Amino acid sequence: MEKTFLMVKPDGVQRELVGEIVSRFEKKGFQLVGAKLMQITKELAEEHYGEHKDKPFFGELVGFITSGPVFAMVWEGENVIATARQMMGKTNPQEAAPGTIRGDYGVTVGKNVIHGSDSPGSAEREINLFFENDQILSYTKDS
Ligand code: CMP
Repeated sequence: MEKTFLMVKPDGVQRELVGEIVSRFEKKGFQLVGAKLMQITKELAEEHYGEHKDKPFFGELVGFITSGPVFAMVWEGENVIATARQMMGKTNPQEAAPGTIRGDYGVTVGKNVIHGSDSPGSAEREINLFFENDQILSYTKDS
């Protein structure tokens, strides 16, 4: 079954949106298989956002993501990578549709509440970066 990496960013944790965000993915029918509240180190941030290292906002991006706790998650389900991206909305909250997480809660392109893997390759890379194998569970849901 497909897995993706999702992370409530420091602004989302500060604004107490973790429960609301987890609830949206639960209600959609996806399964939470890994989760932790953590403080990202500068090294991990630079690795995670490596593809943006030449962008003018790279320093700001690393500074922000390491500014406070994040809630890192692994979610499982059919087509979860693309569907989670749809549920998150466009990167810039000003362009994100109402009803999406960023459309409803995001403020600026930097403080956009949530990160989600954009492809199967990045999902695998990001899950391995943030989680040990034994921190990802496999279990059957009732009903
Ligand atoms: P994310 O999905 O976490 O992946 C890369 C992030 O870079 C993106 O969300 C935005 O939060 C951030 N980003 C993109 N453009 C800018 C920008 N112009 N200034 C600051 N951050 C940006």
